[in-house]
Amino acid sequence: MDAIVLLKEDHKTVEKLFKQFEKAGDEAYDEKRKLVDQIIGELTTHAYIEEEVFYPVARAEVPETSDHILESVEEHHVVVWMLSELKDMDPRDERFDAKVTVLMENVRHHVEEEEDEWFPEVRKAMGRKRLQELGEEMEKARAKAPGEPLAVSSAQQ
Ligand SMILES: [Fe+2]
Ligand SMILES: [Fe+2]
Repeated sequence: MDAIVLLKEDHKTVEKLFKQFEKAGDEAYDEKRKLVDQIIGELTTHAYIEEEVFYPVARAEVPETSDHILESVEEHHVVVWMLSELKDMDPRDERFDAKVTVLMENVRHHVEEEEDEWFPEVRKAMGRKRLQELGEEMEKARAKAPGEPLAVSSAQQ
């Protein structure tokens, strides 16, 4: 699969989970816990494959995207720390919904920048065949993704 198509599919999966969270009742604690665990899993894997495969290759082959990529890594840094906090937070904690809301704002902003500002530049510069190779590489990397958000490299940068 084309690398950018694959990443956009991941974005859609996460957006669906966000919508479900927004629809969940205030006191649907079990449902919210389950959804947030799924969000943690999806976003950790997604950040991992972007950081291990897509970002470094894009930066090397399309150097004009460097500033966008550096900014994206900083955004990942904030997101994975929030994920690690949510992992251990009780959904009954008065800060839980607020933290998920800010997480969603951060991720939506981040996805918008990827999809609208710099993925199109990468697509134009790398072309179909190269993006397909990269997609395959990311599929393979998925299997190696950690379950722990702070094991993603941006967490320690
Ligand atoms: Fe990203
Ligand atoms: Fe992404």
